[in-house]
Amino acid sequence: MPFREFQEATRIHDFYYKNGELYCEKVPVRKIVKKVGTPVYVYSHKTFTEHLAKLQRAFRSVKPLICYSVKANSNLAVLRALVKKGAGLDIVSGGELFRARKAKCQGKKIVYAGVGKTSDEIRDAIRARILLFNVESLPELEQINAIAKKMRKKVNVSLRLNPNVDPHTHDYITTGKAETKFGIDFEKAKEIFKVAKDFSHAQVCGIHVHIGSQIETGDPFLEAFRKILEFIDELEAGGVKIKFLNLGGGLGAIYSDENPQTAEEFAAKILLLFKKRKFRIIFEPGRFIAANSGVLVTRVIYVKQTDVKNFAIVDAGMNDFIRPAFYGAYHALWPVAKNEKASSWVYDVVGPICESGDFFAKDRELQEVHAGDLLSLMTTGAYGFTMASNYNSRPRSCEVMVKGGTFKIVRKRETHQDLVRGE
Ligand code: LLP
Repeated sequence: MPFREFQEATRIHDFYYKNGELYCEKVPVRKIVKKVGTPVYVYSHKTFTEHLAKLQRAFRSVKPLICYSVKANSNLAVLRALVKKGAGLDIVSGGELFRARKAKCQGKKIVYAGVGKTSDEIRDAIRARILLFNVESLPELEQINAIAKKMRKKVNVSLRLNPNVDPHTHDYITTGKAETKFGIDFEKAKEIFKVAKDFSHAQVCGIHVHIGSQIETGDPFLEAFRKILEFIDELEAGGVKIKFLNLGGGLGAIYSDENPQTAEEFAAKILLLFKKRKFRIIFEPGRFIAANSGVLVTRVIYVKQTDVKNFAIVDAGMNDFIRPAFYGAYHALWPVAKNEKASSWVYDVVGPICESGDFFAKDRELQEVHAGDLLSLMTTGAYGFTMASNYNSRPRSCEVMVKGGTFKIVRKRETHQDLVRGE
């Protein structure tokens, strides 16, 4: 790969230091905080769109439909930016469908996954003329068929297969092993294909697989995709036609020093499998596009010393960002103002919430911090704001999108009034 392209392929985001100050694209983070306060999610438009472009480039030979996984970061500004660059969307609820439509995503670029779609959600999705339902059980298929029949509409359906493959990631984000609630095993899927013709209004014409998230090597994908292709061969030998093959999401992002495969490396590995195949390939990446595209900026309220710890108590909590509490996830912490001369200390960086699980880092060596300092929790663009809550009656934070030298509030900070709306 030429050097410039290599640099592009491996550059993970647009947050960097200039004269000791943290910037997002061309905007000093301090300037954003001055305007909107903390905690605040800061997103880079460029990082979002370039990560999509990396996948588009790597897979250009098969022209896949890349359906960005809305659950990773569903802010309308993010969806609009990606849809404008050609992305479709992968949704899992009526709420995400609503967002997808607000972001002007065409129905024919929407795929819908999830084990528990309700009748109302199915109806809305049929009305929106989505491309495919990713079906996770026989009762769900029966329900979709019945609703489509009543509405006198025909819909396309993929069966989500559970290939029983270990993706070697956190248990909570493992989805392709037999004991998880996701997908349909091969035997059952075969049975469903045998009776597929009975579903007059749901055409079973695709296969879907998603084995887990933050998968850092190609091997689990290869194992799963090989199994799936063998299964498809068997089906096709029996006269079944598969039009769509949805390979899910799961590509890892870079949180610290792990070195997950680049889009190019991933493509080089798996494209060989699909060389002579005719299906329309679909991907559903979430984290790969969103994780490195955002940071959560928070202010130190107090520094508290005990006999055993130095606590940096910050104004963001596990309600704003839950990954360390929930998965024990590692996220780097960068000072917004870097001082090369400052000494470093070891801190537990914790939030104000009344739970011992409310932490962002434990025993972390950081540049000495004082009350009032700003810290940036890195790689929080995916599964950050979308997993935020109002726990401890804390208004959810503000979200800002940076584009070049300008920035915009793309979600206002919630107010106390918002907290009691509807009560
Ligand atoms: N497709 C399906 C069917 C999924 O269930 C998911 C994620 C994706 C695509 C997108 O996966 P990605 O490319 O982002 O790995 N909250 C967790 C991650 C949960 C992932 C759930 N499903 C976390 O913070 O690590």
